[in-house]
Amino acid sequence: ESVRVAVIGGDGIGPEVVTEARRVLEAALAQEPVEIEYVEFSLGAEHWLGTGETLSEETLEQLRGVDAILFGAVGAHPQDEKAPSGLLEREVLLRLRFSLDHSVNLRPARTYPGTATPLAGAPEIDFVVVREGTEGPYVGNGGAIRRGTAHEIATETSLNTAHGVRRVVEDAFTRAESRRGHVTLVHKHNVLTHAGDLWRRTTETVAAEHPGVEWDYMHVDAATIHMVNDPGRFDVIVTDNLFGDILTDLAAAVTGGIGLAASASINTEGSAPSMFEPVHGSAPDIAGQQIADPTAAVLSAALMLDHLGLSQAAHRVEQAVHAQLEAWAQAPDSARGLSTSERGKAFAARLRP
Ligand code: NAI
Ligand code: MG
Repeated sequence: ESVRVAVIGGDGIGPEVVTEARRVLEAALAQEPVEIEYVEFSLGAEHWLGTGETLSEETLEQLRGVDAILFGAVGAHPQDEKAPSGLLEREVLLRLRFSLDHSVNLRPARTYPGTATPLAGAPEIDFVVVREGTEGPYVGNGGAIRRGTAHEIATETSLNTAHGVRRVVEDAFTRAESRRGHVTLVHKHNVLTHAGDLWRRTTETVAAEHPGVEWDYMHVDAATIHMVNDPGRFDVIVTDNLFGDILTDLAAAVTGGIGLAASASINTEGSAPSMFEPVHGSAPDIAGQQIADPTAAVLSAALMLDHLGLSQAAHRVEQAVHAQLEAWAQAPDSARGLSTSERGKAFAARLRP
């Protein structure tokens, strides 16, 4: 069996960490009757500066034909005036997300050995945030009138559809069934009454179809407090696009930082490939030095294996990362000064029999 995976290394440390993710994938699949065929795509700031192209229709068409996309990061150095800020985020990242209908943005939050959680008592944290990915205030449904005057009025309307909310909530409940069986709906339905009502009713309906899963509701402001004071209470959090954006960064911070945070942008309907990427950006401040931490990219590759139905291999990658981070935590001298590829090789070595 063969699966086709598009690789978009992108800019800065993107290609460095994706190389390590591929190394680990190769080791994880060595014993499996599955082969990955990689198709490389050049996208990002460097590509744009060289060609004037952000994401062409043709590239998008080719991307639609693969089974999954492994993504590093795109983004120019903030001091690079030739690359207007925000262009790549909108023209590459958001465009991919909307064109490929990535309705769920999945971000696991887990503490690993030796990671520096700023929380007192270093509780064990293991939850996932299922963030809506294609609706809410991100759809560009707004405008400004009397722009630039003292009487300017700007709107950014949050769009929520029954279909869009339902597929995300369903994804959350299905995930909870193979985890600890608990979903927390996060919103602000006391103030955002129209969207909040749709999210709440949808959750009630979906919950009735998943009797094995318990659920509760939390306002988003309360959720930030609980995430810091008692993060162990969460199993699966389901929330809208904007709340999810903020909560997932908080989740990454409490679990020990951006070097470990993995993510998946999932097409829940199977109509286009899903995409797997570390949460961090292209880190121009450390690019080209082989000092980036490849762990987030490796854990994103594990999410990809799971999504492709290779859950055993996914589990083994997570175990390997866990064991290697534990070994480094116990002998910090052995971890000091390791390069990006030395770290990747250490994870891969744990997967070979
Ligand atoms: P960033 O995540 O690239 O870097 C923030 C800080 O974390 C930097 O000090 C960096 O050195 C450090 N860092 C990030 N990943 C690391 C890793 N794997 N190992 C060790 N240290 C790591 O965010 P920043 O600086 O705000 O953005 C830089 C560029 O990346 C910008 O052009 C931005 O637009 C883009 N970006 C792209 C994203 C994507 O492709 N999904 C996501 C976030 C930012
Ligand atoms: Mg963000």
